Amino acid sequence: MRYRWRYASKYALLFGIVSTFGLYILNNKLNSIQTFQSSLSIYSTGPGVKDEKLIPHRHYFHTTRMVTDVDCNAIIQGDEDEIRRAETKRNVRRFLQPQNYSQMARNCSTFKNQRGYIDHHLTEVERKFPIAFSLLMFKDIEQSERLLRAIYRPQNYYCIHVDAKTDHTIYDAMSLIVNCFENVFLTFTRFDVQWGTMTVLEPELQCMKELWNKSASWKYFINLTGQEFPLRTNYELVRILQAYNGANDIQGIASRSEIKHFYKWRWKTAGAPPHNISPIKASVHVVVNRGFVDYVLHDQRAHDLLNWTRQTDVPDETFFATLNHNPHLRVPGSYLGDPKTDDVIKPFMARFKNWGMTSKEWSGLECHGKRVRQICIIGPGDLPDLANSKKLFVNKFYQNFHPYGYDCLEELIANRTRDIYLGNISFDATYYGTFGFVRNKIGLNMDNT
Ligand SMILES: *[C@@H]1O[C@H](CO)[C@@H](O)[C@H](O)[C@H]1NC(C)=O
Ligand SMILES: *[C@@H]1O[C@H](CO)[C@@H](O)[C@H](O)[C@H]1NC(C)=O
Ligand SMILES: *[C@@H]1O[C@H](CO)[C@@H](O)[C@H](O)[C@H]1NC(C)=O
Ligand SMILES: *[C@@H]1O[C@H](CO)[C@@H](O)[C@H](O)[C@H]1NC(C)=O
Ligand SMILES: *[C@@H]1O[C@H](CO)[C@@H](O)[C@H](O)[C@H]1NC(C)=O
Ligand SMILES: *[C@@H]1O[C@H](CO)[C@@H](O)[C@H](O)[C@H]1NC(C)=O
Ligand SMILES: *[C@@H]1O[C@H](CO)[C@@H](O)[C@H](O)[C@H]1NC(C)=O
Repeated sequence: MRYRWRYASKYALLFGIVSTFGLYILNNKLNSIQTFQSSLSIYSTGPGVKDEKLIPHRHYFHTTRMVTDVDCNAIIQGDEDEIRRAETKRNVRRFLQPQNYSQMARNCSTFKNQRGYIDHHLTEVERKFPIAFSLLMFKDIEQSERLLRAIYRPQNYYCIHVDAKTDHTIYDAMSLIVNCFENVFLTFTRFDVQWGTMTVLEPELQCMKELWNKSASWKYFINLTGQEFPLRTNYELVRILQAYNGANDIQGIASRSEIKHFYKWRWKTAGAPPHNISPIKASVHVVVNRGFVDYVLHDQRAHDLLNWTRQTDVPDETFFATLNHNPHLRVPGSYLGDPKTDDVIKPFMARFKNWGMTSKEWSGLECHGKRVRQICIIGPGDLPDLANSKKLFVNKFYQNFHPYGYDCLEELIANRTRDIYLGNISFDATYYGTFGFVRNKIGLNMDNT
């Protein structure tokens, strides 16, 4: 029932936007694709990892992420009383401080053990498909460390940028933590990140450079901030990225013609972009294949575009989306169709991000936490939506705001990691291969022009 209403409201919303701009006509065909796609379920009960007869690493799940103060299962199922109890609970435990981490990380083996890091690839599929992550953090060390712990596997790579403004105690503690891992590192250079400026892009580019140099094996790059959390396990991410088959998951806010009307002021000061490029505006989260990163780092056209982007307003929302939506540049995995993100052809899967002006808008979802600059800061009441979402990561959490939301999501993802590994549930990524942006892209083999 929840679902029906949600899709109904999404439609109403989509229809509203569409009719306002008068640019599209939604036809029945799209409707039926939507119904087909959204009905593809991604979980079923066992067997998860069929080819893995032996499960020698179940000891990683002896220390669970079980929350003892509240019943996460009830919260996830939408039990109003339990949600209210979680929201109003006093005497929440104290968060770990930099000193605590400095203490713990002095002995790396005890640190990894006590914190419960999964120091094994778990499955062959995951071992053969390393992922590179960047993580931009600026405060709340415990929150960022738990994000790292949730996505940590020894075959992946993690580049962490600690903001130049951040207190040195956090930086020093993070240095000790990353020293416990071969595949986690802090950037050489630190930037003072100001949202909406080039300084958002600089640490990303820095991480791309350093990740590129660290290993030739990773296949996709994903960027995160310390206030996000995965909605998928590492195994699921790998299956999804395999289904993407080289496609990049980057949002485009509007169609080419809409962009010309609505966003041209951003780019006016910079003059015409180089190489016949049409600028595109998007959100700031990207999931891109290795070839895309190669292009960003090593192609002259990307360098020229970056130089042009420097002279525009809100450059961080322009650079990557523009590369992904100008097919004549032949950027690997970039999209051949219209940039506009919609639920049918080009959904944006990288983030669950509930934004709106009032309690329920745009995304079609109510915010049960609170809205800060239009983004929903997640609370326990949002857990049912998160548990049902097919997106990859969720944005965003505040450490001090309704911490049981974060705790329960952590428990859920830890359980799924365990249950998939033990073969109690299986994950099917077929849904992720159905999108237009997966089928209609520049192939990774760049020979055929
Ligand atoms: C963290 O450090 C503070 C003071 O440095 C200490 O009081 C507290 O007990 C520590 N917490 C843990 C869990 O070790
Ligand atoms: C770390 O702690 C473990 C277990 O307490 C101990 O066996 C080991 O010697 C310690 N390592 C270092 C480098 O202190
Ligand atoms: C890349 O790696 C090489 C050798 O491993 C090293 O000499 C070089 O400084 C590295 N460059 C960067 C940008 O990390
Ligand atoms: C992700 O990377 C893109 C491109 O570098 C950047 O514009 C954006 O700000 C990054 N997003 C986050 C959340 O770090
Ligand atoms: C960057 O753009 C500016 C202004 O268009 C130009 O003067 C400069 O030569 C460009 N730099 C590079 C490295 O292309
Ligand atoms: C996680 O697993 C534990 C142990 O099997 C179970 O008691 C708990 O309810 C599960 N939690 C969730 C959110 O699935
Ligand atoms: C997972 O499956 C095994 C048997 O394959 C069973 O013994 C175990 O209880 C199941 N665990 C959960 C949490 O359902």
